[in-house]
Amino acid sequence: MKTPTPIAEITGTGRFLPENVVTNLDLERSLDTSDEWIRTRTGIHERRIAPDDMCAAYLGAEAARGALEEAGADPGDVDILIVSTATPDRWLPSTACDVQAILGCDKAVAFDVMAACTGHLYALSMAEGYIAAGRARIALVVAAEKMSAIVDWTDRKTAVLFGDGGGAAVLQPSKGFGRGILSSHLQSDGNLANLLYRPGGGAIDPISQSMLDEGRHLLRMNGREIFKNAVRSMAEACEIAIKKAGWGAEDVDLLVPHQANIRIIEATAKYAGVPMDKVFVNVDKYGNMSSATVPVAFDEAREQGRIREGSNVVTVAFGAGLTWGAMAIRM
Ligand code: UT7
Repeated sequence: MKTPTPIAEITGTGRFLPENVVTNLDLERSLDTSDEWIRTRTGIHERRIAPDDMCAAYLGAEAARGALEEAGADPGDVDILIVSTATPDRWLPSTACDVQAILGCDKAVAFDVMAACTGHLYALSMAEGYIAAGRARIALVVAAEKMSAIVDWTDRKTAVLFGDGGGAAVLQPSKGFGRGILSSHLQSDGNLANLLYRPGGGAIDPISQSMLDEGRHLLRMNGREIFKNAVRSMAEACEIAIKKAGWGAEDVDLLVPHQANIRIIEATAKYAGVPMDKVFVNVDKYGNMSSATVPVAFDEAREQGRIREGSNVVTVAFGAGLTWGAMAIRM
């Protein structure tokens, strides 16, 4: 397949992590778990947890400031602001409107996209569409996740896995040189929604005393089934995105996968044909920050020089919905 001409390129990235580090040893004090179990089963050593008064919009806005600065764009220049979040600060209005107000992106159309851990890829793809249609020249794509607010801290099967953080990217029309998003493959399967979900708190099971007493507003997951689906779907999405970009697996300089579990990352990379020395991993430091995971990893990889001008990058994610997807990007 011939390499397509990109429509939009990433001109800035940013991230924000709360300072508070919670180690596996810290969790051992309140849960029937062990540092050894968490490390060997997930690869996570520690995660960042935001203080009570730090909201998701703040995490996202701080990440966005770095991305805008690198892109040389003022908040007032942003045409479209999309926030991916599984942990909106409020049900109304959108977290994107709060981020807009914090940053002063006064002329932007701002809205949230809810696609769980795949949210950043969905949001990038929507921003690319706005640019392709000539309806935006500067798109700010933000991921804002305060997972600590929706995790059941008494459930060892989920509490040890997640962390808080924000990531961001600025997308602009491609200036040429073949740089930008070359391909994407996004998919969903609502039939498997109950593998990872929050049963209560929405219109189907409104807030009530029994809902709170039973913790139906908190995250529930069938870890084993999610694991199997994640590996299969992410490997397949990588393969499709790589092929649509006109590449082979050997052309990938760096794979930036969603960071939920090191064993999922290793299996995905193996099936996608990318060796682990070309895979970015930071799950040990932050755990799973839902949609913020990919942009935080992307930004760190650039800072470490693992993504440079001209690098061929594939990013891939999987999450509740189910949702999954991959993108091939030439930087
Ligand atoms: O972002 C997308 C969403 N999330 C994911 O992608 C996560 C996908 N799933 C996973 O990463 C893994 O399935 C987990 C890390 C959640 C669990 O690992 P596993 O190897 O699938 O363990 P398991 O659920 O099969 O549990 C094995 C044992 C069980 O004990 P028994 O029944 O064998 O006696 C669990 O009760 O490990 C026990 N266990 C724990 N033990 C200590 C589960 N969680 C813990 C824990 N500490 N935190």
